[in-house]
Amino acid sequence: MNLPRLLATACCLALLPLAVASPSHASGGPAAPDRPLRQLAADDHLRIGTAVDVSALTDDTDYRRLTGSEFSTVTPENVMKWESLEPRQGEYDWAAADRLVDFAHRHGQKVRGHVLVWHNQLPSWLTAGDLDAGRLRAALHRHITDTVRHFKGRIWQWDVVNEAFNEDGTLRDSIWLRTLGPGYIADAFRWAHEADPHALLFYNDYNTEWTGPKSDAVYDLVRSLRAAGVPVDGVGFQGHLSIRYDLPTGMADNFARFDRLGLATAVTEADVRMPVPADSGRLATQAEGYRRLLDACLRTRRCISFTVWGFTDRYSWVPDTFPGEGAANLFDEDYRPKPAYRALQSELAGRARSEAAG
Ligand code: G3I
Repeated sequence: MNLPRLLATACCLALLPLAVASPSHASGGPAAPDRPLRQLAADDHLRIGTAVDVSALTDDTDYRRLTGSEFSTVTPENVMKWESLEPRQGEYDWAAADRLVDFAHRHGQKVRGHVLVWHNQLPSWLTAGDLDAGRLRAALHRHITDTVRHFKGRIWQWDVVNEAFNEDGTLRDSIWLRTLGPGYIADAFRWAHEADPHALLFYNDYNTEWTGPKSDAVYDLVRSLRAAGVPVDGVGFQGHLSIRYDLPTGMADNFARFDRLGLATAVTEADVRMPVPADSGRLATQAEGYRRLLDACLRTRRCISFTVWGFTDRYSWVPDTFPGEGAANLFDEDYRPKPAYRALQSELAGRARSEAAG
């Protein structure tokens, strides 16, 4: 759905650094934001989410408070990945993931399950096991079935298959493709559906927010899966941006073609990194990156959730992966809201989306 932009963004971005210098900021403690994102998003029929570091959730009071107050959906950043759930073959450890699901339940939040089939963070017994196709397929079937059944009824959206494509649109060379062939993708969706027919099943990837060979390949994949009756419900656009590159354009048009297939869409892992240290110009560009991602979602009829990949620079995957870059999140290391946070508030407050799935 195309909706008018009710706020003049240029004007609001110019004011953002002032908005951050609130009294609570000056006092040194974590700021108490005026209207939480989850409330503003509810007005737009949107769930707003964050990836959650479960150790921080346990140990850090401010982190726990903001996770509960600002967000209406949560995604486990690591604890639902295969290496976490089944570090030794046949021995599941659900404890950390269960803690997050329980937290979500207590806070009226939905859960995005992440992730069933990926090439990363696999247990070594699986990758080093030299399994032939029959045994690997059986292991994947069992993993999906056990995991989805364990959380049955408590997961809103599952990232069933994650990052299966290269940038040029060819399928990624992974243990799954190499050993099982491309049919592993359809199998994964069918097995997940059998285990929990009510969960929404997503394909999820990065650098697919705009049109290009990779997003075209995802489009072709989900269209053909749907045509074959494979139970895929949605497509997740991760939204990992960097201000070192031009901010993307045309994202709403790209989301729209998936919407026209009858699929749900979601922004699943938004963050906008920058060379550090941050300065006001970089923070303003970052805010615009976040705003554009949210705008694309709000313009898309069935874009049902907007999730950031962590909300504070205190805990972030970025500096380890991109040395010299960081400051990618909505709150700084001391939980002070950044211009990006204010940009999301303004964007949500200035929209009046009347319908979306949820
Ligand atoms: O758990 C071990 C710990 O035992 C050990 O002491 C420590 C030493 O480095 O490592 C810990 O594991 C780390 C793990 O995060 C949990 O903290 C890994 O080294 C680290 O590589 C891993 O990084 C995660 C990354 O996925 C792995 O690819 C990030 O936290 C997580 O944010 C990131 O998330 C991915 C999404 O799942 C998919 N899309 C991209 C996104 C960003 O890369």
